[in-house]
Amino acid sequence: MSRALFVKPSSSSGPALSVDMTASFAGLELPSPMLTASGCAAAGKELDAFFDITAIGGVVTKSIMMQPRSGRATPRMAETPSGMLNSIGLQGPGLERFIEEDLAWLNNRGARTIVSIAGESAEEFGKIAQRLRNVGGFDAIEVNISCPNVADRGQVFACNPVTAAQVIQSVKRNSDARTPIFAKLSPDVTDIVEIADSVIKAGATGVSLINTLLGMVIDPVTMRPALAGVTGGLSGPAIRPVAVRCVWSVRQAFPDVPIIGMGGIRSGADALEFILAGANAVSVGTSIFNDPSAPFRIHGELQLALAEHGFSSLQQAVSYAHRPADTTREVPITSEQSSDDDWDFISE
Ligand SMILES: Cc1cc2nc3c(=O)[nH]c(=O)nc-3n(C[C@H](O)[C@H](O)[C@H](O)COP(=O)(O)O)c2cc1C
Repeated sequence: MSRALFVKPSSSSGPALSVDMTASFAGLELPSPMLTASGCAAAGKELDAFFDITAIGGVVTKSIMMQPRSGRATPRMAETPSGMLNSIGLQGPGLERFIEEDLAWLNNRGARTIVSIAGESAEEFGKIAQRLRNVGGFDAIEVNISCPNVADRGQVFACNPVTAAQVIQSVKRNSDARTPIFAKLSPDVTDIVEIADSVIKAGATGVSLINTLLGMVIDPVTMRPALAGVTGGLSGPAIRPVAVRCVWSVRQAFPDVPIIGMGGIRSGADALEFILAGANAVSVGTSIFNDPSAPFRIHGELQLALAEHGFSSLQQAVSYAHRPADTTREVPITSEQSSDDDWDFISE
C-alpha cells in the first residue's frame, strides 16, 4: 500500500473549513464518494424529488437484464432486527426500455451513472455489455454476479471463482476498454479474497462489496416462511460489520484495487468506517427506504466527520485504518479532544 495513504492529517486547528470530497478511483473523478446502491433507488428519478441527484457521486441503477421481468412472487419484503430481507428477484423493464427511458433520463439530468447489469449466463452478461457499449452515456458498469447461473443448477455466479471470472471476462470483452467494470461480490462465500482475485484477473477494474446475505424469516403467526420465495437477501445495519470486514480483507490483499463499499450505511460515521477500511466510494441502499435523501445527508455528515478528524481530503482517509500499528499516535484528534488540556496526554 502506498505510504502516501498514511499521511497524518493536520489536526491542530480543529475541523478544516472545507474537506475536498473528490473521489478519484478507477479513472473516475466524482465530486462525492456517495452513490446509490443498486436496487434501492431505481434509476434515480424518484430521489431527484428529494435532493439534486447530480450533487452526489452518482446513481447505481437497479440491475438490468436483457428481457423485462416481473420478479418473484409476493410477499417479497420482511423486516428483521436492524435490517430487512428482500426477494424482489431482479424485477425490471428489460434492457431496451431501460436505455430509452432510464438511461436517457439520467443523461438529460446530467447524473453520473453506473449501470448495474445481471444475466442468466455469461453470454447474456456479454450481450448486455455490448449493447450498452453501442449506446454509451454512462460512466461505469457494475456487474451483479449474485444471480443464479441457469446453466449450473441455479448456483450463484459470485459463489464460484470460475463462474465469477467467466462473467467478468464476457463483460470485459464486450465493453469499451475505457469503461471501468466493477464486479459486485456476494459475502456468502468462504473466502471473498479468492473471488476478488479471480474477477480482478479476469479483467474487473474494481469490486463492489457487498451484496445482500442470504437469510430467512419464519412468520410466527402462520408458522410458514415470511417470503413467498422462502429465502431472501439481508441488508441494512445488521450486515455492516460483515461488509466492513469484506472491504478490509480485499483492501489488505489488493492495496490498489478500486473498491465501492456498501452494507448498512446510515450515517456519515458509518460511511467513514468503510472509507477507513479501504473503500474509495460508498453506496447507500436500505437507508433510502426510510430517508430518501440519505445519500445527500450522509455526504454532508461524512464531510463533517472527516473535518473533525483533521482530514483535508477524502483521499487522505481511504484505507487509513490499515496504517501500521506503531503509528497509533498519529490518529487524528477530534475537535472535542483538541483542547489544550488534552495536548500533554496526546504528545507524551
Ligand atoms: C430491495 C433491494 C433490492 C436490491 N436490488 C439489487 C440489485 O438489483 N442489484 C444488486 O446488485 N444489488 C441489489 N441490492 C443490494 C444492494 O445494492 C446492496 O448491495 C445491499 O442492500 C447492501 O447495502 P444496504 O445495506 O445499504 O442496503 C438490493 C437491495 C435491496 C434492499
